[in-house]
Amino acid sequence: MDLRTRARVQLERARDQTLSVLSPLDDRELEGQVSPLMSPLGWDLAHIAHYEELWLLRSLVDSPPTDPRFDDLYDAFRHPRRERAALDILTPCAARHFASEVRGRVLDVLDRIPLDDRPLLRDAFVYGMVIQHEHQHRETMLATIGLMDRPYPGGSVPPPAAVPISGGARRDGEVRLPGGSVVLGTDLEPWAYDNERPAHRVELAPFHVDVTPVTNADYRAFVEAGGYDDERLWSASGWAWRTEAGLEHPQGWRREGDGAWSVLRFGHRLDLAPDEAVQHVCWHEADAFARWAGKRLPTEAEWEFAASWAPDDATRRFPWGDDDPTPSLANLGGSRLGPVPVGAHPAGASPAGVQGLIGDVWEWTATTFTGYPGFRSFPYREYSEVFFGTEYRVLRGGSWATDPSACRATFRNWDYPIRRQIFAGFRCARDD
Ligand code: AVJ
Ligand code: FE
Repeated sequence: MDLRTRARVQLERARDQTLSVLSPLDDRELEGQVSPLMSPLGWDLAHIAHYEELWLLRSLVDSPPTDPRFDDLYDAFRHPRRERAALDILTPCAARHFASEVRGRVLDVLDRIPLDDRPLLRDAFVYGMVIQHEHQHRETMLATIGLMDRPYPGGSVPPPAAVPISGGARRDGEVRLPGGSVVLGTDLEPWAYDNERPAHRVELAPFHVDVTPVTNADYRAFVEAGGYDDERLWSASGWAWRTEAGLEHPQGWRREGDGAWSVLRFGHRLDLAPDEAVQHVCWHEADAFARWAGKRLPTEAEWEFAASWAPDDATRRFPWGDDDPTPSLANLGGSRLGPVPVGAHPAGASPAGVQGLIGDVWEWTATTFTGYPGFRSFPYREYSEVFFGTEYRVLRGGSWATDPSACRATFRNWDYPIRRQIFAGFRCARDD
């Protein structure tokens, strides 16, 4: 498929998925604020359209803005999420109209624009950026919907027992990785974000990493052993947050009368599935669990090495090789509304046998979000650079909600260490 066709197909697929996520919700649900942490869903939708107009129309061809007020209204930096419901934003109907009107013009431009050497157009980069942006907001919208207290009818929320495990593979234990002088980041991936560039070498000591993410059963043992009451297991800031927020277990868990645990998933109360990766834990909870287990979180570099290294030393785009993800390689794409049991994708393992690195749950790493040596902001500082520093922790690998186009071994996500509404879990590592 040529680049132009690929851009068109992926733009259309992203939009179908965005609209289908929102389709079960009524106008009141699209306009309301579910949580101060999240935007009203109607804001996300119009923001997606505004971003697309900015980058695929106004930056590429000389076209006037639909409405100059949108540059303020839909700028994520001018209005924190908790204030967005009070803004005079488009109604859901008007937002849908805005999005489809922009899209019509974008597809016309895509048909005729020369994909020349302008930096934005090389390898159709700016189209890839807008496609990934829409998918990232779709994932964010799913996190918002996950916080609603009504049962969400979209997707499938299978009872845990209904999920087949395509079995046989090793599902627990650790793998030793040799480290050495390893390559991180990429210069080759055409749609990689600025924060994934440039490729560079770092020295890594040998280390051990868990074959799978930490499961609900593993995490339950930590909860029931009193892990949330043992200050020694937590960092100082983690303990302060655990105390202030009254954390006692992952978001959505509830202890039932018979001692079993249930979990609230998209408004459906389910038995806690022991073999699924734990999700909706914050970085501090992951950090405390790892200490309890006698381990630690992997660094970002260790995680990427585990996901991209093969014994021949050639770096791969994914643990299984260079081919794009498929449903048998990883749980991505968002239709399932949750993780599957760990070990369910043996074909997606790395050559060393590390499983579940891509998809299922984002994995917290020990590392703060900074630019690689030689980082250059492109095409705008507000995607990555303004977040560099010590406040955010890096997450890797994508979740069940992430689109394959916004996921690869080099892809970097970040959030505050206290956040747990995103689809995040973790795996542990330790020194050799
Ligand atoms: C990379 C997920 C942290 O949601 O803040 C969306 C992605 N950037 N619009 C975010 C993003 C601009 C970003 N994360
Ligand atoms: Fe955005």
